[in-house]
This record gives sequence, structure tokens and C-alpha cells, in this order.
Amino acid sequence: VTRLRASGLLLAALAAAAGCDSAELPRGLAGSPAIHTSGPVGPLPGLGDAPPSAGPYDGQPAMIADGRKLFVSMNCAGCHGDHAGGGMGPSLRDATWIYGSQPGDVYDSIAQGRANGMPSWGVMLPEQLIWQLTAYIGSLGTDRESEPPQ
Ligand code: HEC
Repeated sequence: VTRLRASGLLLAALAAAAGCDSAELPRGLAGSPAIHTSGPVGPLPGLGDAPPSAGPYDGQPAMIADGRKLFVSMNCAGCHGDHAGGGMGPSLRDATWIYGSQPGDVYDSIAQGRANGMPSWGVMLPEQLIWQLTAYIGSLGTDRESEPPQ
């Protein structure tokens, strides 16, 4: 009998403690509007997203020509060389890539910038223009290159 009563008291104590906790939880959560537990949850951006392996303007002569114009007017040429052969910034014509040669990698290099001296252009240039630059860079050294070096 004593044992039963003791465990009964213990249970009552636990229940009281639990009741106390559950009374405080909603108050703590009330200030966090970000917590929603229902509704569809989409994929988290940036997690496991491979950069696209093709750009929308790859191989399109008019877009490549626009990319070439931007390359000069935005002064990419000032750092990467007139025909992107390298200068203060690395060559974009050779086969060596620090951050990847896929169109998605090149897009990210331009949009986000890179640590060792590559400015980010994402705030200044709309996506379309960055893809034009990407198409131009992808055309370097091919017979589609706009204004190739003589
Ligand atoms: C102020 C000089 C400067 C300007 C202007 C500049 N870049 Fe760069 N860029 C760099 C440097 C330096 C790097 C290498 C960064 C690193 O190693 O972290 C780089 C890296 C890159 C890369 C990645 C190369 C690789 O090997 O992965 C691309 C693509 C690129 N730049 C494109 C451009 C384009 C397009 C523009 C014009 C919109 C531009 N850059 C303007 C200096 C510049």
C-alpha cells in the first residue's frame, strides 16, 4: 500500500511538472511566427542544387554577341584581358577553371563574385545579362566566338 501511494505521489508530481511545462511552451512559441507545422514544404534552396549544366543562351550567336559587348562595357576585359585570355584575373579561355566550367558555375562566379578579387555582379546585372555573359564565355575558342582575337 505504501509503495502504491508513493508512486502515486510521484506520478502526481510528474504530472504537475509536465503540466507546468506544457503551460509555458505555447507562450514561448507565440513569439515565433516562423514556426508553421502544416502546409506543403518545398525543397530548400541551395541544398543539393547542382548548378545548371546548360545556359539558356548557349550557342546562340545574337546572345553571344551581346555577351561580348557586355564583357567590354562592364570592363570584365579590364581584369580578364581583351579576349578573356587573362590579366589581373584568370584566363577564361583556357581549360583551367578555379570554380568550374559548367554554365551554372560560370553564372555563379559572375553573379556571386569569388573570394580572391572577383566582384559580384548579381545586384547590378539582371539574370538575362549574366546568362549572355555566360554564353559568351562558353563560346570562347569555338567558331561561335564573337569578335575572336586576330
Ligand atoms: C576587378 C577585376 C575583375 C573584374 C572587373 C572582373 N573579374 Fe572575373 N575574376 C577576377 C578574379 C581576380 C578572379 C579569380 C577569383 C578567385 O580566384 O577567387 C575572377 C574570376 C572569374 C570567373 C571564374 C573563373 C574560374 O576559373 O573559375 C569568371 C567566370 C569571371 N571572373 C567572369 C567575369 C566577368 C563576366 C566579369 C564582368 C562582368 C568579370 N569577371 C569582371 C577579377 C575580375
